[in-house]
Amino acid sequence: MQEIKQLDEAIRNTISAVQKGREDIMSISGSARQQRDELLAKLVDLKGEILDVITAVDRLEREEKLARIHLMEVNRNFNKYTEKDIQQAYEEAQHIQLQLSQMREREAQHRQRRDQLEIMVRRVNETVERAKKLETQVGMALELISGGLQGVTVKLDEIQLRQQVSLRIIKAQEEERLRVAREIHDGPAQSMANVVLRAEICEKLMSVEPDKVRAELHDLKDMVKESLQEVRKIIFDLRPMVLDDLGIVPTLRRFIAELQKRTDMNIELVVLGGEEQRLASVLEVAIFRIVQESLNNIYKHAEAKRCVIKLEILPGRINISIADNGRGFDTERTMQNMDVDCFGLLGMRERVELLDGQIKIVSKPEKGTEIHVSIPIKG
Ligand SMILES: Nc1ncnc2c1ncn2[C@@H]1O[C@H](COP(=O)(O)OP(=O)(O)OP(=O)(O)O)[C@@H](O)[C@H]1O
Ligand SMILES: [Mg+2]
Repeated sequence: MQEIKQLDEAIRNTISAVQKGREDIMSISGSARQQRDELLAKLVDLKGEILDVITAVDRLEREEKLARIHLMEVNRNFNKYTEKDIQQAYEEAQHIQLQLSQMREREAQHRQRRDQLEIMVRRVNETVERAKKLETQVGMALELISGGLQGVTVKLDEIQLRQQVSLRIIKAQEEERLRVAREIHDGPAQSMANVVLRAEICEKLMSVEPDKVRAELHDLKDMVKESLQEVRKIIFDLRPMVLDDLGIVPTLRRFIAELQKRTDMNIELVVLGGEEQRLASVLEVAIFRIVQESLNNIYKHAEAKRCVIKLEILPGRINISIADNGRGFDTERTMQNMDVDCFGLLGMRERVELLDGQIKIVSKPEKGTEIHVSIPIKG
């Protein structure tokens, strides 16, 4: 739990850091765009000014040419013009030349400034483009991180749940071992100790009271027989050998016959689709365990008069139902508040889900219980 919390926090921090990065990029891209627009406006103004300067240069060139022609004419016909005229023409031409060179200088400066502005616009444009690309990439990364890493959390949740289930299975196995150990300890082990004790008494009485020894030996034989039966029951409960030898239906019949000896309840087994049909071992064990647990529950909790087990073996599927007319129970409450010591129904559900099957438990207090299981037969 702690690790998931830490991971959640790390994911949230990463996402907010990336989000912050995205906002920074957006603000950089915004100001770059603004800078580009300003530069473009300046460039437009400058280009207008260049056009004006070029027109002025053209005009001045024309004027300068005329002034030069006029000066040459005044020089050539100096008897026609006064000295003042010559002086004026000369000054006029010089003045225009000065203006022209100033205007040309201005044109060169403007062109240089224009080139610089164009380079700057190109650079800012590159920044805008790069920021745009980054924005999309970071957006995609953000989506990936939030989607992907949330997936990781979900996966971790699943792993944790599986771990919990595994722990419960291990605990259930331990409880089962404890149950078997207790059964052997209270039953056969106790009897064996008794047998040894009474055999020792027989040994001592052998020569003194042979009749008593005979009676004692008779009791001993019964005791050993009883123990043998108990041991057989324990072995059957652990793993019925007959399941591997004869298959599911004969095993269930034997199990029911054994249970019938201990209860007045009427148990009926209905098989549809083949009394001798063999299934994959894992499936046969699962079916046996499901029916075994259901019958044990009925025996322990239901106080039922009657119980019907139906086994329907279809080509690709096996359906099992176990119905009793006992006192029933609140399934929802039981499954929700599943006591730590109740593994029967939980184990049944896990077994069925492991085999890709479905289980449905229908029960209401005082209405009896029905368990429906359907498992696909694969291969
Ligand atoms: N056929 C039934 N009739 C009435 N109550 C039932 C029946 N089957 C189950 N229950 C109720 O559901 C509860 C849970 O059953 P589950 O088999 O999971 O646990 P359990 O039998 O109490 O313990 P465990 O199976 O681990 O020895 C039981 O305690 C019982 O109250
Ligand atoms: Mg049970």
